[in-house]
Amino acid sequence: LVDQALDRLVESESRHPITLHKAMRYSLFAGGKRVRPILAIAAAEAVGGRGEDVVAGACAIEMIHTYSLIHDDLPAMDDDDLRRGRPTCHKVYGEAVAILTGDALLTLAFEVLSNSKNYPTNSPAEVILEVTRDIAKAAGSAGMVGGQVIDLEGEGKQLNLAELEYLHIHKTGEMILVSITTGAKLAQTTLKITIEQIGALRSYGEAIGLAFQIADDVLDIEGGEEIGKPRGSDLKKKKSTYPALLGLSESKSMAWDLCDRAIKALEPLDKKAEPLREIAKFIVYRKH
Ligand code: IPE
Ligand code: IPE
Ligand code: MG
Ligand code: MG
Ligand code: MG
Repeated sequence: LVDQALDRLVESESRHPITLHKAMRYSLFAGGKRVRPILAIAAAEAVGGRGEDVVAGACAIEMIHTYSLIHDDLPAMDDDDLRRGRPTCHKVYGEAVAILTGDALLTLAFEVLSNSKNYPTNSPAEVILEVTRDIAKAAGSAGMVGGQVIDLEGEGKQLNLAELEYLHIHKTGEMILVSITTGAKLAQTTLKITIEQIGALRSYGEAIGLAFQIADDVLDIEGGEEIGKPRGSDLKKKKSTYPALLGLSESKSMAWDLCDRAIKALEPLDKKAEPLREIAKFIVYRKH
């Protein structure tokens, strides 16, 4: 569902300027796990909604996520050569085009979000406006970009646990959390979600958002080739990470605890939330 929609929403490779559209598609269709769009759809279904009603939000979030990876890999940031098992965007298209490719994906996300054609006809406009603002906030200085700055400033230092938690919640957790709330909110073309449902989903999202980045830190050390990115990138850059502060086994047990906490938070939801429970386990036990 998501791959087909992304293909429709991004200009074709033959469209002028060809290099830019090629680079956007190169990174977007490089084989990412699509965790965030899948979370949006699973959250919609968990409250009794339909996946197809939330695809615009799911795709916009994946575009923002992909832009963030292109910029994250640049020499000025993590300086990595491999992403999703392929040479990074700047290795193929050059740094300048990679920067602009990220810019174009970020901008396209908001074009997609704000185009009423991308929603079922009965989607309430105020809900579309609300998720657009939520996503902007999660991606910006109070969310992902803010966290990325703390990540860069934390290189070569040892942040304490509270500082590290702040860093991980912002650089990664906020976009994961907003994937879930976007899915649930956009499902409201066909139903009304309750405060209890959104509260349960938020607690779930906060726990798996942090767990996701702890698992990513662990994979940087002990992941296999299937992670599709250079191992040891965090050590090379002297990053502040959970394993660097707490060691591998303590970090893993924190991630497992967060997974339990996430599943527990879903107690008010019925078996339609089962995919979300499985995704929580995937996030901490994944190999890529
Ligand atoms: C990697 O995200 C960057 C982080 C926020 C940890 P993913 O592990 O979701 O990367 P893809 O999309 O599957 O490549
Ligand atoms: C990146 O964190 C988080 C983003 C907002 C892109 P990392 O730098 O640890 O992500 P990877 O390991 O390169 O995917
Ligand atoms: Mg980084
Ligand atoms: Mg990185
Ligand atoms: Mg990492």
